[in-house]
Amino acid sequence: MTAARIAAPSATPGAGTDAAAWQHRHVLDLDDFTRAEIETVLDLADRMREVLDRRIARVPALRGYTVMNLFYEASTRTRASFELAGKVLGADVISLSASTASVQKGESLIDTVRTLRAIGADVIVMRHAASGAPYLAARHTDAAIVNAGDGAHAHPTQALLDLYTIRSHFGSLAGKRVVLIGDIAHSRVARSDMWGLAAMGAEVVVCGPPTLLPRGLRAADRPTHAAPALPAVTVETDIDRAIAGAHVVIALRLQSERQEGGLLPSLHEYAALYQVTAARLARAHPDHLLMHPGPKNEGIEIAGDVATGAHSIIEEQVTNGVAVRMALLYLLSGRTESPGGGPGSAAGSAVGGEARA
Ligand code: NCD
Repeated sequence: MTAARIAAPSATPGAGTDAAAWQHRHVLDLDDFTRAEIETVLDLADRMREVLDRRIARVPALRGYTVMNLFYEASTRTRASFELAGKVLGADVISLSASTASVQKGESLIDTVRTLRAIGADVIVMRHAASGAPYLAARHTDAAIVNAGDGAHAHPTQALLDLYTIRSHFGSLAGKRVVLIGDIAHSRVARSDMWGLAAMGAEVVVCGPPTLLPRGLRAADRPTHAAPALPAVTVETDIDRAIAGAHVVIALRLQSERQEGGLLPSLHEYAALYQVTAARLARAHPDHLLMHPGPKNEGIEIAGDVATGAHSIIEEQVTNGVAVRMALLYLLSGRTESPGGGPGSAAGSAVGGEARA
């Protein structure tokens, strides 16, 4: 990255954003995002990356804004990433785990969300085991809701960081062959990725054993009323055919916490037939990228050597996740400039020129 690029962002990384292309009060899934809206997020994330690369990565763009993380399910990267995203932008960030919140005393989701709003939450970032929970929350509060994963349904911020990471390598997603491999049926990442990739014009291929592919995935099998349930994708049960010519391979964890029994004869057999290995990746495009949303189980869905190999950009995905979440928090805040923080102001100069050499 050049010094000129690093020095460019001001204390108002979002100033000048194409707000007209952003119409969302909440981020619940990508099924209602247009390509222009996705591009608005990714372009802003580029500018947020520049802020993250500064020696002191802090800007006051969201000063006085309160982000509350409400996680009813385990999380390492998503939660830490939202916390950091809020802090870098100067927001107040409070994180709650359902295991220690009043949910344990029987409080309902609606009561919890309304309570957090009454305390002062501007945005509630929520992860829940039940598909649809963030939609329910959004109907009962005027805080913005961000879905950080709901059951097997959606994980839109993961999909956006995946799109961002692919775009940062190839410049565009249009026409790129992107293959999702593994437990498609129970993966919220796969569902949101499918929407986002399709919107960006990628060729989407999903691959897994028939028992781990959702019913109705083949567009031709869908009854008319279900036609819009998922975008058109190519379905493959043969991993070698799926990987052939792929620009991007995304390996997915077996979501055993959401699987009913009897879907796989054994883990050993699953790994033998569907593990992403160096031998299999040899059929991909020579410049292919290997991705995984994490947490990964090396030796099951992905071989250890390729997970850390030359084509793997798994850690880049995690880093980019902070920038993408900064962009989303900023867009949801509706701010177009930071309070008192223009490039020439005191706040602006306090962060200006803090670029890492
Ligand atoms: C995913 C999730 O929780 O949906 N992880 C993540 O957020 N990066 C995928 C998974 O759990 O396998």
